[in-house]
Amino acid sequence: NAPGPYGNASGQRDAGSERGNGTVLVVAAALLDRGRLLAARRSAPADLAGRWELPGGKVEPGERPEDALVRELREELGVEAEPGERLPGAWPLKPGYVLWVWTARLLSGEPRPLEDHDALRWLARAELDSVDWLDQDRPAVAEAALRLPGA
Ligand code: CDP
Repeated sequence: NAPGPYGNASGQRDAGSERGNGTVLVVAAALLDRGRLLAARRSAPADLAGRWELPGGKVEPGERPEDALVRELREELGVEAEPGERLPGAWPLKPGYVLWVWTARLLSGEPRPLEDHDALRWLARAELDSVDWLDQDRPAVAEAALRLPGA
């Protein structure tokens, strides 16, 4: 239960999902399988519904980012997955939120839109532009594309 790199100096966690420096860390997965990347269409909130994203969510207090990633993929997609490399970058979301993205591979299960999403698509590299990605996810998607065949 050692404090991760984002706790404050005393190793305590602030309330909510804050990292102790006023920033909430959101983690998302570039889930790669058989040469494709998984895109998930948000079902809520209204201003994001219909846009596509890399599945993920907020890191909870005291939780390691990679553990949060595994948990979110279990909750949202019903799969077991293993994080790979973290994609270089830290992308600002709404004020006070920052997005980190890892590649991930499926260990078991077939993704289903259980929570937060109403559609899923596996996209090959040439198909990545066929969905309307959230603006803030686009740099991570471009980085993930470099890990797909045909790069
Ligand atoms: O699942 P949880 O409630 O922890 O988090 P979320 O509501 O899915 O995501 C937290 C915030 O990060 C929301 O504002 C999402 O829109 C944003 N987000 C994003 O911009 N891109 C992603 N790939 C995942 C989340």
